[in-house]
Amino acid sequence: MHATEDLVNGLYANGFGISLSFFNDSMTDSFLKVLEEREHQMKEAGIGKDENFQKSKDIRSDKIVWIEPNEHRDMDSHFFPALNELILLLNRRCFLGINNSEFHFAKYVPGTYYKRHRDAFSNDDSRKISVVAYLNKNWKKGDGGELNLYTENETITVEPKAGTIVIFESHLEHEVLQSNTERFSITGWLRNEKLKM
Ligand code: OGA
Ligand code: NI
Repeated sequence: MHATEDLVNGLYANGFGISLSFFNDSMTDSFLKVLEEREHQMKEAGIGKDENFQKSKDIRSDKIVWIEPNEHRDMDSHFFPALNELILLLNRRCFLGINNSEFHFAKYVPGTYYKRHRDAFSNDDSRKISVVAYLNKNWKKGDGGELNLYTENETITVEPKAGTIVIFESHLEHEVLQSNTERFSITGWLRNEKLKM
């Protein structure tokens, strides 16, 4: 898959990779349907991990629900296989040792955002790569909710349009600008978990 290779090449060269047509419309529609089925389970997201966990509405105000393989046919037929292929290539090309992953759906209602942050926790560095797949078919300029990635040299802006996927090193600072419409996505982290002995 060329899109997967492009993503990995981008990550290897620049610390981030973007594909504007990673999933087609029928796939993102099917993911969105699953999200709608799970919407009643969505909860306000928090920040930090374990003893550092807190709910902090002034930092982020999206709602999330976690998803796992073997829960939904449409995720198992298209989402997880594509991500597994990405993980294989990342491990082969970049020696990241990804051995675990976690994903959630996210919903931003109008007026919500996620202020500038890093995804790697200060008390747990197992999150290596952040992945965001967007599900917003009719997104247009002015709808807001762009992702800003702050790399060493420049700010990269990603429009949250259906089909687009972005991957980046989880230590990079980034921000979700205020969304003026409902904004849907699948966010995940590819992890290198050390063996506990
Ligand atoms: C996150 C995040 C980016 C996005 O959930 O940690 O930064 O574009 N999401 O939704
Ligand atoms: Ni983030």
